[in-house]
Amino acid sequence: MLVHGFPFDRRLWAGQLRGRSGIRRVVAPDLRGRGLSAAIGAEGATIDTYADDVAATIASLGVEQADVGGLSMGGYVTFALWRRHPELVRSLILADTRAGPDSPDGKRSREATADRLRAGKVDSLADDMLARLLSPGTGGDVRRKIRTMFRETPTGTSVADLLAMRDRPDSWPDMGTIGVRTLVLRGADDTLTPPEEAESQARAILQARCVTIPGAGHVSPLENPAAFNAAVQEFLEPNP
Ligand code: MLT
Repeated sequence: MLVHGFPFDRRLWAGQLRGRSGIRRVVAPDLRGRGLSAAIGAEGATIDTYADDVAATIASLGVEQADVGGLSMGGYVTFALWRRHPELVRSLILADTRAGPDSPDGKRSREATADRLRAGKVDSLADDMLARLLSPGTGGDVRRKIRTMFRETPTGTSVADLLAMRDRPDSWPDMGTIGVRTLVLRGADDTLTPPEEAESQARAILQARCVTIPGAGHVSPLENPAAFNAAVQEFLEPNP
């Protein structure tokens, strides 16, 4: 079960849907409000709402547990899934994500970004994001895919994501409770998830290890799917 980040959708995992289907059934849902999923209603959405949706999706597949991976905001959702539905989780993959909450400055920046989106500035935001998030060597094809996902995410959904991320809780206190095997992944050029963040996560979780994906920034599954998939394969099937 692979959970995408902001402002993406299931297409973030195209390289895993293709590349990992030999070792597992790979399921990559659109979180609510985008892609093929139903719109966000008047009740809004929180990271917990998204986690409950993922839990319902796992239950609907007729399996008792899933290996659950989340990228960035998808990682925040994965931490919430662990807090709320740990019985559904067989193992965890935490990719390019952070365990702590937003700082006061970070919260203000979420609101400023939401205002830019409400003002219709999606293209200039996408420019800023592409410059900040990706490895310098990431090619035009991946850049185009990311821009397309950002453009096609409804503004109301992106705003809901931003406010949900602003309000997410601190997940550090939960790290010691994670009792399943965990893989922490980070793109070598990810400036949003510094190496010490990923290493601290791996140290705080009992059965975790940390792998760096070369030639990738914050969107490692799309920037270097071969290396990402090899790390996942080694984690899920160490002795094929
Ligand atoms: C994401 O990739 O999901 C977001 O960049 C995460 C964030 O802004 O905290």
